[in-house]
Amino acid sequence: MKQAQVIFQEGDLSWTMIARDPAKHGYVIDTNEYVITYGGESILTDPGGSEIFPAVFSAICTVIDPLSIKSLFASHQDPDIISSLGLWLDFNPSLRCYTSRLWTSFIPHFGGDDETLIGIPDEGMPISLGEHRLDAIPAHFLHSSGNMQLYDGTAKILFSGDVGAALLPDDANEVFVKDFDRHIDYARGFHQRWMGSTEAKLDWCQRVSSMNIDMLCPQHGAIYQGADVMRFINWFAELPVGLMTFRK
Ligand SMILES: [Fe+2]
Ligand SMILES: [Fe+2]
Repeated sequence: MKQAQVIFQEGDLSWTMIARDPAKHGYVIDTNEYVITYGGESILTDPGGSEIFPAVFSAICTVIDPLSIKSLFASHQDPDIISSLGLWLDFNPSLRCYTSRLWTSFIPHFGGDDETLIGIPDEGMPISLGEHRLDAIPAHFLHSSGNMQLYDGTAKILFSGDVGAALLPDDANEVFVKDFDRHIDYARGFHQRWMGSTEAKLDWCQRVSSMNIDMLCPQHGAIYQGADVMRFINWFAELPVGLMTFRK
């Protein structure tokens, strides 16, 4: 089973990270899910693949009633992001799933219909969690052509999807980045191959540099906190990505 760890709690608002399943098969990429709860309602980011649904679902049950989850947020269309959708809908058919407008007719191949999927316009949009406001922030082409992130201005947390992802070895499996220089070696290859566009990368770096972010929470790897957030953005801005780094 995965572990549930509260990473932010203030009043009625909490963020819980679901991560690090010691029983996970090595052939599926490790993922982080985040549950944001305000009052009695929750939203779950990038719920993961059908392969890991039982591990995610049981970890969530240790912290909240899973029926409090009213919606899912899918940063993009990948199987490690949202192929569990059909299983989530078996559990609660009234769930809604926010995703880029580009993917609203592709993701139903994993389950759901035109009522389930809520298309986010290219420029992003506010998403309500009860009385609490979250914002879908565009990060297109990083790596998906329709790619969204989720910002919480109160908690100062940006859920960044695949941006910031690192493929950690078993002996560097911490939840928060401890040693940036060591950690970033595990992120370099991923960003060079999966992030195809220098223009999109620089556009994103400029957008998020002006935002107030205390934690940058990726879908793979560890969380960047405090000064490591700007360190990551600056590192990414300088990193050669895409075709210029591609070797056959
Ligand atoms: Fe992806
Ligand atoms: Fe991913």
